[in-house]
Amino acid sequence: MLKQLKNCYNTDDFRMLAKQNLPSPVFHYIDGAADDEVTYARNTASFDQCDLIPSVLKPVNDVDISIEILGKKIDLPIFLSPTALQRLFHYEGERAVGEAAEYFNTYFGISSLATVGIEEVGRKFRCPKMFQLYVHKDKALNQDMLQKCIDHNFDALAITVDTIVGGNRERDLRTGFTSPPKLTIASLMSFMLSPMWSFNYLFREKFSLPQLDSHLSEGTKIAISVGDYFTNMLDQELSWKKIEEIRKIWPKPLCLKGIMSADDAKKAIDVGATAIMLSNHGGRQLDGSRSPFDQLEEIVSAVGGQIEIICDGGIRRGTHVLKALSLGANACSGGRFYLYSLAGAGSSGVKKAITLMRDEIIRDMKLMGCNKISDLNKANIRFR
Ligand code: LAC
Repeated sequence: MLKQLKNCYNTDDFRMLAKQNLPSPVFHYIDGAADDEVTYARNTASFDQCDLIPSVLKPVNDVDISIEILGKKIDLPIFLSPTALQRLFHYEGERAVGEAAEYFNTYFGISSLATVGIEEVGRKFRCPKMFQLYVHKDKALNQDMLQKCIDHNFDALAITVDTIVGGNRERDLRTGFTSPPKLTIASLMSFMLSPMWSFNYLFREKFSLPQLDSHLSEGTKIAISVGDYFTNMLDQELSWKKIEEIRKIWPKPLCLKGIMSADDAKKAIDVGATAIMLSNHGGRQLDGSRSPFDQLEEIVSAVGGQIEIICDGGIRRGTHVLKALSLGANACSGGRFYLYSLAGAGSSGVKKAITLMRDEIIRDMKLMGCNKISDLNKANIRFR
């Protein structure tokens, strides 16, 4: 049966819709991960290692799921992680994601490899905005991006620290996925099988990476794989010292995205970070590494209360959010859970995905006997 937005009820449904609408190289770029994709699968599976224990017979007519994170009050305990190349997935791209974040009042992030510029996002959206910084070898580019975020009122900066080289994404190697897409006989076939996508790609606003346009040719006009982009363009000398230097320039909340060990979490405090995002980049970098949820208890016991902890990765259900918050995460975030819906149905897709997630969280809170996020704690969870 052909998938339609109206019969999408969960992330898996949106994934099927995206698969149906996208040329296969583009779908597999979103859906794929590194090596054997063990870590990618683990990110979601790890939530099944424990179970929630509800507490009943409590009035729960007024459930408040708002939280404070990175200097802002947001109405959901989950926000939209920065992800790259969004106009390649749907012509509405970051604009659709920003519109949904604004509608639900949650944080959303744009990537250094976003397909809409910092200036436009800053002008257009009043909701909390995060900019994800890839620290490039090109220092002028880093400075330019930072200055634009300061000038255009971004609320938080997330520096990605797990992309010192590109992960081995074999699906991209097989499909030949590059940014922008390269026309080969095989990719041409897949574009012809996705006529709507191809029409939009060819006749709407031209694909571009505005943050990089004035600085680099690689990754903007020259077709290159994302893995090669990381390996060639990003600063392999990125260090704690360099984070301290950025901390001096960036005046607002700073988040380190890709912290996984308790030692690194402590160092993040020392360099003045506001938050850490426990993340393995959606399993796209080091396969065989731990899942954020598996690491959560250890990180909370090492640094909880001293720095904000965001659990990013594998979240597909409201109960996943509740489990992470019960173990002490201050917030959750995710990429694919809204990207599939963007790719499948643009702005209405993203709004539906977030509506479903919000409704699940509220329903699950009521079933747990909780009125507010701070009611969730370790006592309501057991490992098997
Ligand atoms: C990725 C990027 C660009 O493909 O975040 O993982």
